[in-house]
Amino acid sequence: MGKSTPLKVALLGCGVVGSQVARQLLAQAEDLRARIGRPLELVGIAVSHLDKERPGIDRELLTDDALALASRGDVDLVIELMGGIEPARTLLLAAIKAGSSVITANKALLAEDGPTIYSAAEEAGVDVYFEAAVAGAIPIVRPLRESLVGDEVTTVMGIVNGTTNFILDKMTTDGADFADVLAEAQRLGFAEADPTADVEGFDAAAKAAILASLAFHSRVKLADVTREGITAVTASDIEAAKEMGCVIKLLARCALSPDGTISVGVHPTMVPLAHPLASIPGAYNAIFIESRNAGRLMFMGKGAGGSPTASAVLGDLVTAARNRVRGARGPGESTYSARTITEAGLERSRYYASLTVHDEPGVLAQVAATFAQHGVSLQAVRQESVGEQARLGVMTHLAMHREVSGAIADLDRMPTVRPGISLMRVEGD
Ligand code: HSE
Repeated sequence: MGKSTPLKVALLGCGVVGSQVARQLLAQAEDLRARIGRPLELVGIAVSHLDKERPGIDRELLTDDALALASRGDVDLVIELMGGIEPARTLLLAAIKAGSSVITANKALLAEDGPTIYSAAEEAGVDVYFEAAVAGAIPIVRPLRESLVGDEVTTVMGIVNGTTNFILDKMTTDGADFADVLAEAQRLGFAEADPTADVEGFDAAAKAAILASLAFHSRVKLADVTREGITAVTASDIEAAKEMGCVIKLLARCALSPDGTISVGVHPTMVPLAHPLASIPGAYNAIFIESRNAGRLMFMGKGAGGSPTASAVLGDLVTAARNRVRGARGPGESTYSARTITEAGLERSRYYASLTVHDEPGVLAQVAATFAQHGVSLQAVRQESVGEQARLGVMTHLAMHREVSGAIADLDRMPTVRPGISLMRVEGD
């Protein structure tokens, strides 16, 4: 092929990110051509509503037949920005079968059924790139897949959902309750009308599965991730965290244990103020990595939005296009480690329990004894008298979730303990 022969690009989806990608393909055409060595030509955009207003998008390119566009044999690169499992999976598989390299931001599909996409691409000899699937603009997939592939990553931990970080940040600043802040976030357009995927931690869990697969060279699926959202976080939890010199963040945590097993979870977590993740504000995302040789690394940026996410998509597009020009391929799936994933309940963390008890002789000893009976060692205890009651804050040493929740269940049954014990993970050891 000559240097002036365009590489053909098809776009599936033209929402906030897709429309920005389409605009940037035009606006940056000359630079992209120079960086790739051949021009890119956008040959079609699949949309659900042909009549919708799309400023800056050539109507001639629009089609509502996504399968026909994805299956064209003459397209070099297909970008999927529709989201969801179907029809995205069928369309990506059709594009791969037709010989196109694919670029996707679809975290739900990759976390649910990534291996099907990767194996199809392997068989067809094409690339799959997905930088925009995790943490929007932040380069994190490529650092794990390529830059750190000669190292041993031991921890990947981060704030990978902007909506929940915005809500928790606002609860911390204003002392407000979850429901009030969520309603305000929805009014301001920071949270979706149906916020379930964000506030229940599904979005973060899908991203955690992808990050853990890359970091530990093992298949990790959404179902392997222990998950807890932020809907139960109260203003008093936020207050308790402040008293302990912490903030509450929804943390995705992927860790390699010394015994070679891995744990992957998403939980509201008390993060000590000195930790780099504690200061990540508003809707920002950040990912913190520890590895044997590189040590500690931190990546921070915008995790959503048209232009930031389009930046990641276009980076993948240039990379996949350069591979095409050279007749080369980028890395495929690396899952040789096949590590065992820690069963839910057996993962270890520090915990902070807040409970209200009768302020009577022997009650504190009963509480401490209950933790001890479940094999949980205590690191610190705070007590504040409120009339005839006392508010206790109990920080544990590292313990299994199963042990700590066993102690909480026993405490819940004690007549000297008021109902409504709150339990939260604490980062660090
Ligand atoms: N809804 C996500 C967030 C962005 O709030 O971060 C897309 O994954």
